[in-house]
Amino acid sequence: MGYWTLNDIPWEKFDPAKVDSDLVRIVKAASLVEYDGPSYARYLCRVFHDDAEFREVAERWGAEERQHGEALGRWAKLADPTYDLETAFRRFKAGFDSKLDGDVSKRGSRAGEMIARCMVETGTSSYYTALAEAAEEPVLKAICHKIAADELRHYKLFYATARKYVGREGLGLWSRVKVALARVAESGDDELAYAYYAANHHPEERYDRRRHGRAYAKRAYGIYRRHHVERVIAMILKAAGLTPNGRLHRVVSAGAWRFMRLRAAHFARAGV
Ligand SMILES: [Fe+2]
Ligand SMILES: [Fe+2]
Repeated sequence: MGYWTLNDIPWEKFDPAKVDSDLVRIVKAASLVEYDGPSYARYLCRVFHDDAEFREVAERWGAEERQHGEALGRWAKLADPTYDLETAFRRFKAGFDSKLDGDVSKRGSRAGEMIARCMVETGTSSYYTALAEAAEEPVLKAICHKIAADELRHYKLFYATARKYVGREGLGLWSRVKVALARVAESGDDELAYAYYAANHHPEERYDRRRHGRAYAKRAYGIYRRHHVERVIAMILKAAGLTPNGRLHRVVSAGAWRFMRLRAAHFARAGV
């Protein structure tokens, strides 16, 4: 099992006066995506069908992601007793197709698959670090610290596997950069928008990708600070096989931070 369990969370310290309703909404969305971890683990086990050592790692990873979903879902229920993780998760699965049916990687190679996973773990480790810093409610803070540590460990694990397969498959630098950029671009896709909708809106309300995506992004972008973005860029460059702390890092970090500020200001003005 994982490095911690739900019993390690100080639930008794929950303080309703410190709950931020915007954070509750994005925590609910995150709980659904995390809770779906085992689906992705099953897909990874098919892609790496003849690598028993990695399959074991992938299964443990999937269970840890599910536990993230359980912890966030339980916290969301403390903050909003009407929230039910299982019910919301059924809605999420019924309406969102994560396209994980294949036996070969969607990224074209196993090394590519691992680089794409590194991008996701980069995103989640920075997201929970930012959420832990933004949250004033002590139980949410504690949960996010634990999850952020797991996500960083997941990044290292997939990074080590990526390196192994980059050598075996001979995946060149440009191909690695392309996979990394493609996965980063996908972070704007529907999964989080749909999770936000399934977790927060009445089933009779129709899903509107643009509106619900913006409602999610406004709240999520709002928690990032410059040092989170700088770390994200370093981790992305490293996973793609580029120098993580040189001039490229400075230029890309400055651009990414500026982009995020503009987007956050735009969403705030749009009042979503
Ligand atoms: Fe996670
Ligand atoms: Fe993770």
